[in-house]
Amino acid sequence: MASLTVRKLDEAIKAYLRLRSAQNGRSVEEEVRVILREYVQGRPEPLSTLPAEMSAEPAWPENISTAEPRVTLIIGGGIAAYKSLDLIRRLKERHIRVRCVLTHAAQHFVTPLAASALSGERVHTDLFDPHSEFDAGHIRLARDCDLIVVAPATADLMSKMAQGAADDLASAVLLAATRPILLAPAMNPAMWSNAATRRNVAELERDGVALVGPNAGEMAEAGEAGTGRMAEPLEIVAAAERFLRPKKPGLLSGKRILITAGPTHEPIDPVRYIANRSSGKQGFAIAAAARAAGAEVVLVAGPVELDAPKGVSVVHVESARDMLRAVEAALPVDIAIFAAAVADWRVMSQGEQKLKKTDAAMPPLQLVENPDILATISHRAEGRPSLVIGFAAETEHLIDNAKSKLRRKGCDWIVANDVSPATGVMGGDRNTVHLLRRDGDTIGLDSWPVMTKEQVAVALVAEIARGVSERAESEPTT
Ligand SMILES: Cc1cc2nc3c(=O)[nH]c(=O)nc-3n(C[C@H](O)[C@H](O)[C@H](O)COP(=O)(O)O)c2cc1C
Repeated sequence: MASLTVRKLDEAIKAYLRLRSAQNGRSVEEEVRVILREYVQGRPEPLSTLPAEMSAEPAWPENISTAEPRVTLIIGGGIAAYKSLDLIRRLKERHIRVRCVLTHAAQHFVTPLAASALSGERVHTDLFDPHSEFDAGHIRLARDCDLIVVAPATADLMSKMAQGAADDLASAVLLAATRPILLAPAMNPAMWSNAATRRNVAELERDGVALVGPNAGEMAEAGEAGTGRMAEPLEIVAAAERFLRPKKPGLLSGKRILITAGPTHEPIDPVRYIANRSSGKQGFAIAAAARAAGAEVVLVAGPVELDAPKGVSVVHVESARDMLRAVEAALPVDIAIFAAAVADWRVMSQGEQKLKKTDAAMPPLQLVENPDILATISHRAEGRPSLVIGFAAETEHLIDNAKSKLRRKGCDWIVANDVSPATGVMGGDRNTVHLLRRDGDTIGLDSWPVMTKEQVAVALVAEIARGVSERAESEPTT
């Protein structure tokens, strides 16, 4: 095994190691071991932490890293401090680095050792700590992070913050903070509703401090209930993530999308119907992907056994004619995707009672054509969605049939898939699709490899987003 002589490393690296080990309260050798361990575990310190010269750089980089953001967690002296240990774990699970400050009172409830073992960082407790204060460590704790979380935020800590006190490490860090502050108050309901606390909370909110909780419920003190319970760790994590990883607008934000899915049922009599084998999985997957991309989605579904994707409103219908009505009611939309397998025909006259078997001839089922939803919407003179996409489910001559469908129906794109029984597409989880795009008289063809229906949905949504932005760019500006 090779050995490493720290003395022989170059000056910039030695300076970095000296600084980092002093900040973390470790020997230089131990610090090297930690760095190597982190590297092997796949989470090395970002290279940007290496100082260009021998200047005293903070151990955590200045730039906010959305991949691994950093939280300074101040733990106050309340019973709920035990939950803050779980909070550390939950933050770390989400690749958020945590550096803890414990107030003097907090150490009656949890130990610095537990907090440092869970956070993997040195814990800070003392304003006048020579190990940290050789370069004003409390200022670093306040600034060298992306967010300061105080959990539990005691009545006392909030009072000190409102007053601008700085007589211990926690209050000094909070006063020196230039990063957002999130408080998770926790206290007895009488303390929370006390006029002094109300004034302090109002003052802090005016100062731009954010709060999560407190919640109502049972208190640690026997027989006490009311508002004052600290928010649960996962609620605090969610509130922190709103600061650390603000949601970027999705690819389809601001777009309203209509999607049809599933089969239709065409009644023969009150108990019998004509149906097909469509499961609706592809249309539901597209609805979920479009919603995830930020679109407002209306999903018109024939009879299927699928749960509504999160955030998607589903209009349930039975027959082709119901589906057309629901589609027209959902207009106007920016984009319409017709993935439903709509029956081409229905029974001309539906029996009012159940048809009975008789000795006479079998009942004749005369069929009439159903409305063509894709063609109807594609040919609308007014309120036509700017992008209309149909599906072609074929069992032979897939591309030729899809091309002629694209021309005949007047839609913009067709997603063609082979639904012959051997492919297992109808009702299955995978699909092999070809995307045909009309551009004037020419038709472009993209053939995609076999994918899960979710993957097809995500890829289609990405193509739609690209198509929408290309159209927007080519539109003349007024
Ligand atoms: C058993 C016990 C439980 C306490 N729980 C709370 C609490 O939940 N919330 C609170 O604001 N104070 C609570 N206190 C009072 C604080 O510990 C006290 O105000 C302390 O000075 C707070 O210090 P700190 O704000 O520096 O952490 C509790 C005290 C004791 C002895």
